[in-house]
Amino acid sequence: MQRTWELCVPIADTAADLFYAKLFELDPSLRALFPSDIKEQKKKLMTMITTAVRSLKDLATLVPVVQALGKRHVAYKVKEKDYGTVGAALLDTLEKGLGKEWTPPVKDAWIAVYGVLSSVMIDASKTA
Ligand code: HEM
Repeated sequence: MQRTWELCVPIADTAADLFYAKLFELDPSLRALFPSDIKEQKKKLMTMITTAVRSLKDLATLVPVVQALGKRHVAYKVKEKDYGTVGAALLDTLEKGLGKEWTPPVKDAWIAVYGVLSSVMIDASKTA
């Protein structure tokens, strides 16, 4: 999973385009949550995933960062169900971006990691 993300980093710009195209196809109502120019947003999301993937071995540092991120998402009007939509868009993007590197174990690893990140964010969003 760490290795496959490193493969995506050089194509992060394209991957981000694919990701938002898929996300707004899955749920057009989510477009309204983002600023009209999402260029900065694309960079932030890719940077955040890169940081998360690289620091998976250092969960103690990662968890508080992800909790704070989850709390900020409440202010962005993100709902719990939206995490599923974002997860689906992310998997679709990785599948397209990675081609034959997208194997069942790689897919399982991404599902597990996204699941952990999103549940930490969702849990944190429920507490003050
Ligand atoms: C693991 C899941 C996610 C990660 C790693 C992530 C990451 C980020 C980051 C790094 C930012 C930049 C601002 C900040 O740091 O507070 C951000 C903003 C934002 N995210 Fe997420 N996000 C995730 C899930 C979601 C979901 C499920 C949605 C729902 C559509 C969403 C919508 C937004 C919106 C609307 C903004 C603010 C855009 C703006 O006003 O500039 N995110 N996200």
